[in-house]
Amino acid sequence: MPQTVTDLSSVRRSVEKANGLPNAHYIDPEVFEEEKHALLFSQWAGLAVAADVPEPGDARPIEFLGMPLLLIRDKDGEVRVFQNICRHRGMILVEAPRKIEGAIRCPYHSWCYSTKGKLVSTPHVGGPGHNTHDAIKRDDLGLNEVRSHVWRDIVWINVSGDAPEFDVAMADIKERWREFELPLYHGGPDSRFELEVATNWKLAVENYCESYHLPWVHPGLNSYSKLEDHYHIEQPGEFSGQGTMVYRQLTNENGEKFPDFEEVGTKWNEQAEYIAVYPNVLLGTHRDHAFAIVLEPKGPERTVEHIHLYYSVPDSDEGLRARNTQLWKTVFEEDIFVVEGMQRGRHATQFDGGRFSPVMDSPTHCFHEWVATKIETHRAKARAAE
Ligand code: FES
Ligand SMILES: [Fe+2]
Repeated sequence: MPQTVTDLSSVRRSVEKANGLPNAHYIDPEVFEEEKHALLFSQWAGLAVAADVPEPGDARPIEFLGMPLLLIRDKDGEVRVFQNICRHRGMILVEAPRKIEGAIRCPYHSWCYSTKGKLVSTPHVGGPGHNTHDAIKRDDLGLNEVRSHVWRDIVWINVSGDAPEFDVAMADIKERWREFELPLYHGGPDSRFELEVATNWKLAVENYCESYHLPWVHPGLNSYSKLEDHYHIEQPGEFSGQGTMVYRQLTNENGEKFPDFEEVGTKWNEQAEYIAVYPNVLLGTHRDHAFAIVLEPKGPERTVEHIHLYYSVPDSDEGLRARNTQLWKTVFEEDIFVVEGMQRGRHATQFDGGRFSPVMDSPTHCFHEWVATKIETHRAKARAAE
């Protein structure tokens, strides 16, 4: 049990009476560590995108909350996540993104693993010239695999291994967006960017959930998609966000637009939705494109946002694509000063978590309730184990 045990009872009140999460949840390294287990390792969290490893054999080391992982597309094309360490002496296996030709060879004593994680060779393990030993059972010494699942190109991982099956855990969001269960094509190098933000990852979620800030923070967006054109989305315990009734497609000088996702219903002609799937994935979908933001928590006060844009066809118009990337980049950059400002605000000792507008902030409150519930469950388990 960490020394910092916060009182979360006021967070779980109804939105009219609730406070936001206490400051410690944004600035205290002990609470960050606790949340790592309670909110991130125990759930299906976003790690990366499958487009990061497009070809069989592509491998990319990723450090997730201090844990060295290896994202790889195996020789049959399946995306997998392993702990990036050798089963012999725990050496890091892959230091930089590269293509694995043949096997993953440990640079220390050359034990080799297939791209599916199987230990395939152990040179001189039984003494010079003896590549086997009875005590070294290769079948038991494959790479440690982390439970993973690809949906909407995002590689989701469940580090603890005991979350419900992905399709069960995500049943409601999958149902909500069932019309978009279609191939998504990553726009390529011009359709990915990162933003480094001096904030706790949860503030990025909280700000993404709500449309309340639109008139002041996003004057460009607000010129055609106004506050009153938005509605809230809340699925307690799973996700929350907002939608607009007036999505306007991007058009180039010749009046051309991105092609629509096929047979998506007329409901989506002008509607678009922006949903934070707890814990750390922010999704947007529209008739003609989608985006995903994977939040990488780097520490209590530092987050990297990995942003990717997707289209309905593999060869969308390059110029239009670049403009669309720029448009979203502008919007997401507009949000930085508020999430960084709220972060600095968490060092004000008299801040009590703040209050919510019962009408405008309920998606954010929905997230806080989820956080509080997960943490309390985690604490109860820790107490029971003591
Ligand atoms: S640590 Fe990998 S082969 Fe020895
Ligand atoms: Fe925003």
